[in-house]
Amino acid sequence: MALLTAENIQVTFQTRDHAPSHALRGASLTIQAGEIIAILGESGSGKSTFAKVLAGARLGGAQCVGTLRFKGGQWGSVGSRSSADVGARGIAMIGQQASLVLNPFLRARTQLAEFVQAHGVTRQQIAGRVHELLEVVRLRPAERYAAKYPHQLSGGEKQRLSIAMALACGPEIVVCDEVTSSLDTVTEAEILELFSSLRAERRVSVLWITHNPLRVRNFADRVAVMYAGRFIEIGPTANVLDSPLHPYVAELMRCAKSGISVHEDRKGARLASIPGAAPDAFESFAGCSFAPRCAEKRDTCAQKAPENASTEGRGEVECVLYER
Ligand SMILES: Nc1ncnc2c1ncn2[C@@H]1O[C@H](COP(=O)(O)OP(=O)(O)O)[C@@H](O)[C@H]1O
Ligand SMILES: [Mg+2]
Repeated sequence: MALLTAENIQVTFQTRDHAPSHALRGASLTIQAGEIIAILGESGSGKSTFAKVLAGARLGGAQCVGTLRFKGGQWGSVGSRSSADVGARGIAMIGQQASLVLNPFLRARTQLAEFVQAHGVTRQQIAGRVHELLEVVRLRPAERYAAKYPHQLSGGEKQRLSIAMALACGPEIVVCDEVTSSLDTVTEAEILELFSSLRAERRVSVLWITHNPLRVRNFADRVAVMYAGRFIEIGPTANVLDSPLHPYVAELMRCAKSGISVHEDRKGARLASIPGAAPDAFESFAGCSFAPRCAEKRDTCAQKAPENASTEGRGEVECVLYER
């Protein structure tokens, strides 16, 4: 049975000066227990909004539609009060800026103790649990790291401490949104290794959001590619990276492999080699969101949205080329 299913999630922000902003336009994804899924997509495609929906974060008055199921049970509609009890649902989220969740005035042990306490541990158990969490994220020796303040930690160590805080509630799924984008490649590799071990040792599922396809090859079981608020291709990692189905994903991988980056931090950065730009959240369209840029489009693509097609062993894709 699937651990978590997100069905047809739509999130629309009402903005005062503009038309409604469609951050998610029917995103669906299923996560199995102990699975690592990488979510790829250009800036603005909806990755962070999807992460927030799963983590039950407040979406500032956005209109949310869709269904989330955890272990088969329904949480109710997205954004409702019942779906906001993050800890109880077993989902933790970690963001790019670890330092934002760390209090500069508290030692590591005090910060962790606050989180541990909030999740039903007795006073006598706190110190032991804090020690265990520092060990889990490889901040060793734990006694020494427990006494440190955030400014005494490197970028990677701060990120590990924030991961320890996320693990304090014993989550079954950890959603990581661009967790390593501000870290160097060696530190990034260490964090990936940490999540691989967490999965192996604790059967934690990981949703790894990134804009760098090449780093997930030996890490993720499956890759899900987002475009204009939907998952347009989901499949086993090697298939999506090396023989993608969707024309957009094929271009995305070609760019990644030839070193043309789609950098998340530079707002508005676009895939240079594909003509045109991804639609922004204010645009509305009847057919396929990629049709205006697609070299393989058919006459119907601008009017009719593609159906989700399952291919044997290679995953799912939303493109008319694969419809039966
Ligand atoms: N609070 C908000 N108000 C209006 N539009 C928003 C808001 N948050 C996100 N969006 C829009 O939704 C789209 C998806 O954003 P986001 O989920 O942050 O994408 P990503 O993480 O892939 O860069 C973007 O076009 C963004 O401008
Ligand atoms: Mg984002």
